[in-house]
Order: sequence, then structure tokens, then C-alpha cells
Amino acid sequence: MTKDDLGLGVRLTQEAGWNHLESDWLRFYNLGSEGSFVAEFEGRAVGTTMTFISDRIAWIAMVLVEKKSRGKGVGTALLKHALDYLETPEIETVRLDATHLGRPLYEKLGFMPEYEVVRFKGIAPQLGGNLKALCCGDSG
Ligand SMILES: CC(C)(COP(=O)(O)OP(=O)(O)OC[C@H]1O[C@@H](n2cnc3c(N)ncnc32)[C@H](O)[C@@H]1OP(=O)(O)O)[C@@H](O)C(=O)NCCC(=O)NCCS
Repeated sequence: MTKDDLGLGVRLTQEAGWNHLESDWLRFYNLGSEGSFVAEFEGRAVGTTMTFISDRIAWIAMVLVEKKSRGKGVGTALLKHALDYLETPEIETVRLDATHLGRPLYEKLGFMPEYEVVRFKGIAPQLGGNLKALCCGDSG
């Protein structure tokens, strides 16, 4: 991956419904540019992954393949490439957070679930109203 590929990353995250901005991609890239990869399929850039190393632990993130190129082995190839890159004596463990789409791919490559995370979403309450209720109650 080079800085010129960050636009691809933004496009893929938007297509996947993730909320990363170009500034997020740039921050990740600056953290681990050497371990960041783009997959090409039939001459086009269609997928990404990034790796980050902290002490003896490596993280894999931003595994994304454009919708129309999925199911053709691109995600698996990206993961295998990232794992080859991380295959060094210094790294004890490789970890990642998986979506339901990524989970089968990772399990096929030998990753095992550690625990599950539930993400909640909803409409934020009006902060001003809540603060009033908390601090003063009805009697004000
Ligand atoms: C998860 C994701 C990266 C997988 O990418 P992909 O390129 O479709 O992955 P692969 O093609 O390697 O594997 C997906 C499936 O295609 C199958 N496949 C692999 N090679 C194939 C080939 N040559 N022909 C047909 N199918 C193939 C795989 O066996 C797998 O099948 P499965 O449904 O039985 O698991 C993609 O779905 C994606 O970008 N999702 C949105 C973002 C996301 O959730 N990313 C994961 C973050 S943790």
C-alpha cells in the first residue's frame, strides 16, 4: 500500500458501511505502512489489509474487499500475505477483531475466537435535558 491507495480504503469502508475517514486511514498508514497491503484482481486494486505490531503482539485490521470481487479468494490471499509478513520470531500472537463476514475466513486460517463483542447503536438523548434532570430534578 502507498499513500495513493488511501482513497481506495475510504471507498471500501464506505461501501462496507464503516465510518472511517481519510484521516483515519492516514493515521493507520503512518502506524504501519510497511505492513499495509493492497490486493489486485484482474488488474484492479480491490482489497486492503493493514498490520500493526506492538511488542510481541501483531494486529490485523482493515480487511476489506469490494463487494463485486468477493468470494473469489481475494480476502484469503490478503490474509495469507499479511500472516507471511508477520511470521517473525519476535511476534508471539496475531490478533484481530472480526465481523460476521470475516469470521469464517479467519477461522479457516486457524484463528480461534477469544470472546464476542456486542456493539449497540441508538439515538443519543439530548444531553442538555438529561443534565437538567440529573442535577436539578423537577423541583429545579
Ligand atoms: C470478509 C471479506 C474481506 C472476505 O473477502 P473475500 O474476498 O470475499 O474472501 P474470500 O473470497 O477469500 O473468501 C470468502 C469465501 O469465498 C470462498 N472462496 C475462496 N476462493 C474462492 C474461489 N476461487 N472461488 C470461489 N469462492 C472462493 C471462500 O472459501 C469463502 O467461502 P465461505 O463462504 O465458505 O467462507 C469481505 O467479505 C469483506 O470485505 N467484507 C466487508 C468488510 C468486513 O467485514 N471485513 C472483515 C473485517 S474483520
